Amino acid sequence: MSAPATNLAQFDTVRLDRPAGALVIIDQTLLPTQISLLHLKTQAEIWEAIKTLRVRGAPAIGVAAAGGLYLAARELADLAYPDFRAGVEKAKDYLDSSRPTAVNLSWALRRMLRCLDQHAALPVPQIVESLYQEAEAIRTEDIQACRAIGEHGLTLIQDNWGILTHCNAGRLAAVRYGTATAPLYLGHERGMRLHVFVDETRPLLQGARLTAFELSQAGLDVTLICDNMAAWNMKNGRIQAVFVGCDRVAANGDVANKIGTLSVALCAHHYGIPFYVAAPTSTIDLATPDGGSIRIEERQGVEITDLWYRQPMAPAGIKTSNPAFDVTDQGLVTAFVTEKGVVRPPFQPAFREILSV
Ligand code: MRU
Repeated sequence: MSAPATNLAQFDTVRLDRPAGALVIIDQTLLPTQISLLHLKTQAEIWEAIKTLRVRGAPAIGVAAAGGLYLAARELADLAYPDFRAGVEKAKDYLDSSRPTAVNLSWALRRMLRCLDQHAALPVPQIVESLYQEAEAIRTEDIQACRAIGEHGLTLIQDNWGILTHCNAGRLAAVRYGTATAPLYLGHERGMRLHVFVDETRPLLQGARLTAFELSQAGLDVTLICDNMAAWNMKNGRIQAVFVGCDRVAANGDVANKIGTLSVALCAHHYGIPFYVAAPTSTIDLATPDGGSIRIEERQGVEITDLWYRQPMAPAGIKTSNPAFDVTDQGLVTAFVTEKGVVRPPFQPAFREILSV
């Protein structure tokens, strides 16, 4: 038996193993104590992995869903075209139902179905091959976009700065580099001394379990804080910039991201600290006019009361509210950092320009 893996950098967060017909992911629910790979073969396994956050983070679930849809198409490759297409569309709707807020999920699935339609004249096995190429393109483009976000983000930070991040917009939320963390990884590689403050991110602790883990493994200087300590650290001059990721950017620049992001943005605004949102352009959703139109996922209350505790931390039967995301008003965002460059207000025309629409 091989020794258990200890270094995250050895693995991509999500990839296709074509010969095995499997989507391979790091099971993020076991981090930071165990790096364990899952080989997901069925649609139900992939749906469950997205729903339960075994694979999570907006770009990563897009890449996972694209790979999952290729696997579905491969299973249907013996059918005549009309049944094949109907089967793939059904699988697309099923995977799309796993989580509602991150646009990358439906974006990647729509892109896969568009690819199928563009190749409709080919024999079904060749369409399946095109879907494999498309899923791989979505994965590779994510790596390139994150790297470019890192380069653009680096122009906004200076040596010795304290940088606050919330949730996990790191390599575990993408394929490599992450979005909000990409400038931090690149800065560190180039010898900058950055002091990264990581919000633990209640209730599922993506900051503590994932961001603190991946950044400290890569050798960055990381300080873990509870969510309610961000304002105090800002007031005391320890934080010079905030970098967060996002799940959906509305056309007007409102940003859906992990619950708690809005509080961080308000504090940063109060103390005059720049608040940067790292976003691959695939996260910008021009079809959603503003934050009020974004569907916010509501998750089970048990995540607040029991999940990470040895004993319940709330009275049995207490009423809970557990929105997984909030929306930060565009006026609180200093700039978006995309793979195409830094986007400053007014956001609406700037988005149209970088998306060439
Ligand atoms: O519920 P999660 O863990 O999927 O939420 C993830 C976030 O909110 C991230 O900040 C967001 O997806 C950006 S990832 C680059």
